[in-house]
Amino acid sequence: MSTAGELDTIAPTEEERAAANRRQRFGQGFLDGISRGWADRPDTVPPARHSAAYAAARRAAVSARFPGERVVVPAGSLKQRSNDTDYPFRPHSAFAHLTGWGSDAEPDSVLVLDPRPDGGHEATLYFRERADRTTHEFYADATVGEFWIGPRPSASGVAAELGLRTAPVEEFAPGPGDLVVDVHADLTQFVSEMRLVKDEYEVAQLRLAVEASARGFDDIIRDLARIAAHPRGERVVEGLFHQRARLDGNTVGYDTIAASGPHACYLHWTRNDGPVVPGDLILIDAGVEVDSLYTADITRTLPVNGRFSDVQRRVYEAVREAADAAFAAARPGSRFREVHEAAMSVIARHVSDWGLLPVSAQEALDADLGGHHRRYMVHGTSHHLGLDVHDCAQARREMYYDGVLEPGMVFTIEPGLYFQIDDLTVPAEYRGIGVRIEDDILMTPDGPVNLSASIPRTADDVEAWIARLRPSA
Ligand code: GLY
Ligand code: MN
Ligand code: MN
Repeated sequence: MSTAGELDTIAPTEEERAAANRRQRFGQGFLDGISRGWADRPDTVPPARHSAAYAAARRAAVSARFPGERVVVPAGSLKQRSNDTDYPFRPHSAFAHLTGWGSDAEPDSVLVLDPRPDGGHEATLYFRERADRTTHEFYADATVGEFWIGPRPSASGVAAELGLRTAPVEEFAPGPGDLVVDVHADLTQFVSEMRLVKDEYEVAQLRLAVEASARGFDDIIRDLARIAAHPRGERVVEGLFHQRARLDGNTVGYDTIAASGPHACYLHWTRNDGPVVPGDLILIDAGVEVDSLYTADITRTLPVNGRFSDVQRRVYEAVREAADAAFAAARPGSRFREVHEAAMSVIARHVSDWGLLPVSAQEALDADLGGHHRRYMVHGTSHHLGLDVHDCAQARREMYYDGVLEPGMVFTIEPGLYFQIDDLTVPAEYRGIGVRIEDDILMTPDGPVNLSASIPRTADDVEAWIARLRPSA
């Protein structure tokens, strides 16, 4: 495919200049005819999306917090991958939250809340409206021209679906006093913190994401034999999860971690280029993202041959006990950090019992002088989950780690134990074992609900899951 575009009267862009070595000149016959012979586009007005009312309520909260200020929330732009290819576009999460526009949002859009003289704000969504078929853009712009990328939404359609006034992006003019998300700290913090408690629409979307992810884990287990036979079985695991996401019309919310054997001990193992060897464990950390951009974040650790060895089971069940302790500590009104502390005290006790610590578990848990056990679990136990896998990242510490758990919060519980293959502080039988169990938790007035509980998580249940789904030889 080549970038088109040649009208002698229009100065070439940098991109067009760069592509000139493979560009074919448009002949007059093409130019005379390209704008004609197209059927009218349907002008049916779509109904409002379910997300629209929720997004309107969120904009009202921003309006109330920033009276008299002009608030600007950019969607962001395409990011270059290389040369003239870009990464798939994904709008800024604050933009998605405040517009209800998810995976089909248009790059370069901007949501603006203009203060009204009599109070409140007027919301306008600036976006690149589709170009008329008589324009150079229509047939010659390979990045945005509809001839190249397919139909783009109409202004009236977007306005109706999102319940927002729309305007052409060329009419957006930044002002010197604008408050801009990601530029101004107070606004950035506010729009992050307002996502700490999910509304019912968000919870429903997260449930969908979790259900869709569960199907991906099932698919992996069904294909464990093919995975183990492939020299890069980790790639097959990643591919199967992604395939399930795509088959269901979704994508993934972050790069899948398919970490087999000793790779499981590398927390951000996304290279996924290793074999999956019977006798080892494979740690799979994966989450489906649905159209609204809400994502699951789930980890399961599986014995590749269907059975945990004694030492694998010992480590696995210690992690499971830590997860259960964290779940029990998560109550409305308890602090976010208490969830982590509950998991950590179980982890410290077990690694102490196994003789891995130079001090007692109690000494290891001392906030200032301890931490010895964290060599084997360096990450936190929980993070908020939503539009971003690590949601609410700009929230203040007192609202997040030191904050109080409230109904409507959704967060992970994900303790682990990781004994790296070359860690001489542990007996040889532990080396190369990495286990994490990660579930997605909704806090309710009655306590926590494990949204991912349908995915087997005890050692016995994981073995039974594999036995049930893996085709018999
Ligand atoms: N998948 C990233 C995390 O678990 O936080
Ligand atoms: Mn996580
Ligand atoms: Mn995860």
